Amino acid sequence: MSDLLDRIGLNGDVPAHVAIIMDGNGRWAAERGLPRHLGHREGMKSVRETISGAVEAGVEILTMFAFSTENWNRPAQEVSALMRLLQHYARRESDELRKQGVEVHVLGELGRVDDATRAAVDAIVADTRGGSALRLNLMISYGGREELVRSARVLAERVRRGELAPEDIDEAVVEDTLFTRDVAAPDLLIRTSGEYRISNFMLWQLAYTELHITPVYWPEFGREHLFEAIVDYQSRERRFGRVGSS
Ligand code: IPE
Ligand code: IPE
Ligand code: MG
Repeated sequence: MSDLLDRIGLNGDVPAHVAIIMDGNGRWAAERGLPRHLGHREGMKSVRETISGAVEAGVEILTMFAFSTENWNRPAQEVSALMRLLQHYARRESDELRKQGVEVHVLGELGRVDDATRAAVDAIVADTRGGSALRLNLMISYGGREELVRSARVLAERVRRGELAPEDIDEAVVEDTLFTRDVAAPDLLIRTSGEYRISNFMLWQLAYTELHITPVYWPEFGREHLFEAIVDYQSRERRFGRVGSS
C-alpha cells in the first residue's frame, strides 16, 4: 500500500480526468547510450503502470499523448518503430486491460496511420468496449490545432448547407465537433521530462486544466509519480476566473 495513495484518499477530490504528455523517451535512451526506439519500448512499462495506478487512485478518464501530428515529421525509421510499437502494445495489452475494466478509445487523425496499426488499434478498441473502471484515450496522430481546423470546417459546412446559423455557434457546439466530444476537459495535465510547453496538445480542452510538470523522463515514470501529481493537484485552488475562497 502506498502512503501517497492513502493521502489521495484522505484528501478526497481525485481528478476525474488526467491527461499526460509522455515525453523524454529519446533522452532517457541517449543518456544510456541506447538507440531512441529502446526508450520508446521502455516507456511502455510506464504506460502499463500509470494505467493501473490511475485505476487504483479512482481516476475515471486517462488521456495519453502517444503520437502528435508533428511527430510525423520525425525520421521515417523512428515513425515506423513507433507505429510497430503501438501495434505490439495493442496486441499484447488488450486482455490485461479488459480484465482491469479499462475501455480504450483512440482519438486523432487515423487516416494517416498505416493499415496494420489501424487494424491493431481498432481491435483493442473493440476488445475493451464496455470496461467501466477507467476510460483510456490514446491520442494518436493528434494535434490541437488540426482538431480546431477540422471543427471550423465541419461548422462551416453545416452553415453552408443551411443546417446551422452562425449565431447559434457557442462553446457547446464547438465542443461537439472535437475528438473529445464525449468527455469532460482534463482536470490535471502531467508533462514528463521537464519541458514547460503544451506542444499542440488539447489546446481547447486545457483552458482551465491544472498543470503538473515533472523532470522525470517518461520511461522512469511510475505509479508513485502519478500519485505525487494527484496530491499536488489536490493542493491547488481552481478559480476558473472567479474570486478565490480564502
Ligand atoms: C516521447 O519521447 C514520445 C513521443 C513523442 C512519441 P520523445 O521521443 O519525444 O523523447 P525526447 O523528447 O526526444 O527525449
Ligand atoms: C509531445 O512531445 C508529443 C508526445 C508526447 C506524443 P514532443 O517531444 O513531440 O514535443 P516537443 O517537440 O518537445 O515540443
Ligand atoms: Mg520529446
